Amino acid sequence: MKYPKSYIEEIRNRLKVSDVVRLKVNLKKRGKEFVGLSPFKNEKTPSFTVNDEKGFYHCFSTGEHGNIFDFAMKLENINFGEAVKLLAQRAGMQPYRFTKEDEKIEKETQRVQRLFQLFFDECKKKLNNDFKQTHLKYLLDRGLTNDTINFFNLGFCENSKLIQDQLLKDGFTSEELVNSGLFYKKDGTNELINRFKNRIIFPIQNYYNNFIGCGGRAVLDNALAKYINSPETNYFKKGFNLFNLNHARKESSNTNTLILVEGYMDVVSLYNKGIKNVAASLGTAITTAQINLAWKNFDKIIICFDGDQSGIDASYRAAERVLKVIQPGKDIYFAKIPKEQDPDDFVNQFGKDNFLSLLNQSKDLSEVIFNHYARNTNHSKPSEIAFLEKKLFEIADQIEDTLSKKYIKNSFKNKIFETLIRKKKNQTHNPDEIKKASLRLMLSKEEILELSFLNLVLNYPKFSESKIEDLSSLELNFKDNKVFLSELISSLLNENIKSRDDIKKKLSINFNNIINRIETYGNNKEITLNLDEEAYQNIFDDYLNEFNLINKNKEIALIESELAKNPSEKMYDKYISLKNS
Ligand code: UTP
Ligand code: MN
Repeated sequence: MKYPKSYIEEIRNRLKVSDVVRLKVNLKKRGKEFVGLSPFKNEKTPSFTVNDEKGFYHCFSTGEHGNIFDFAMKLENINFGEAVKLLAQRAGMQPYRFTKEDEKIEKETQRVQRLFQLFFDECKKKLNNDFKQTHLKYLLDRGLTNDTINFFNLGFCENSKLIQDQLLKDGFTSEELVNSGLFYKKDGTNELINRFKNRIIFPIQNYYNNFIGCGGRAVLDNALAKYINSPETNYFKKGFNLFNLNHARKESSNTNTLILVEGYMDVVSLYNKGIKNVAASLGTAITTAQINLAWKNFDKIIICFDGDQSGIDASYRAAERVLKVIQPGKDIYFAKIPKEQDPDDFVNQFGKDNFLSLLNQSKDLSEVIFNHYARNTNHSKPSEIAFLEKKLFEIADQIEDTLSKKYIKNSFKNKIFETLIRKKKNQTHNPDEIKKASLRLMLSKEEILELSFLNLVLNYPKFSESKIEDLSSLELNFKDNKVFLSELISSLLNENIKSRDDIKKKLSINFNNIINRIETYGNNKEITLNLDEEAYQNIFDDYLNEFNLINKNKEIALIESELAKNPSEKMYDKYISLKNS
């Protein structure tokens, strides 16, 4: 039965996680957290941590993660309702009294869960046990493993009355069958029709792991629609749920990012390639309710729609729609799949790493909106620039959060100035420049950082000479940049080459491409300023700090995954001191 949020919150306010955990685990305080031996696994070095501030525990050796209710459910082997009762009592609260209406709804929910379960089990059996295995083979041919197929409970719904006969025999009424959305009544008759017959079934669960409906993919060429989905029912609210969010949210202890795609197959296929922080809308446009739901567990959402025109249009429309719920600390980005592909095609053709680097190049929400409107603005006409600002401000005015509204308006203003007004002074409508700017947007922040840094070092050999030590110990991430840096260091050490031009001339013999890339995409604002040594020094140090921060975050991520596999006290200490540094 569903408890009111306020009741649950009250229990969480009264009980610290460490208080609940301490009854089962010996805890020692370490910094802001507590540590102890994992109750989920036999271990000698503690890998179990509790953070009262965040209200969560995390076990590095098993990856288990949760709040006080999860902990009680796991360790006492009870369900959520029982955990609430137990913890409410411990918190000194009265047990919650459900009304008659609550009880009725609860009963119905349980019945429909059982109905869905039986239906999906049957479809799963059909998929796996069918002697010809046509449909299973279809999924395997699309690159899915058996594990993935099982994980998503994919099934096949055969064209027969057997399932409905069985359900009716089990005591479900035909009204319940219709209310589930799985069946409908043929016009004006009482004949039940299975909506998903002859389709591959993608069961859909809500945020709390309850089945709410499904999608079905046609396998026959003459089907009316490639996919059909359950209709809106009491359980299935398309704009308020996301396919796979219930599983994806378990990844939020490893990543703050959720990838949002358009299709069921995109989710299944990314999962199949090891990308599990992914969810999909349910055949309709993304809503603000879905964004808010995803933000419960993730700070950053990357919307990654198909690369065809309709996907691009949908991205743009989504951007304008969700802008109004933007909040401090929460981000929405947009990734662009090239050509006419979708995430499933892309990851199958180019692999996981290339997909991840594509995500790295995604653009921020306000940038997407700005680019959309700025694209057709004539830079040399003040009236058009004014119109652009008016339009962008109208859009920003819909933002509910006042701080976010203020900063997004500021960023629109800055972008207008940077890209339309300042640029105009030096160059008019130069198509090469526009192309360059848009290509630059495709690079990741880290790559631009590296190129900008190399630009600085390359243009100030005199000052850079005294930085050899820093330069030698710097680990760049992009291979070409790395090779170039070591060559650049050798040149700086060479007595005969001292001027900017000398050094470029020498390096351009073998590194013409990379020098071009540096000069095109690197930040060259500071270069043209004719820096004195002090200014150079400051900029140089800023870059080093940024590199350090990036490396630190990478190291933390690495240790986290190492700790999860193979926890040791030494590693744990390193982790904590790194995090606190
Ligand atoms: P897509 O046509 O992009 O599907 O529709 P897909 O995920 O790439 O599927 P495959 O690769 O062809 O198997 C994306 C989503 O739009 C909805 C479904 O939710 C689908 O997952 N859709 C699509 C429909 O509701 N009806 C349709 O006829 C097609
Ligand atoms: Mn597809």
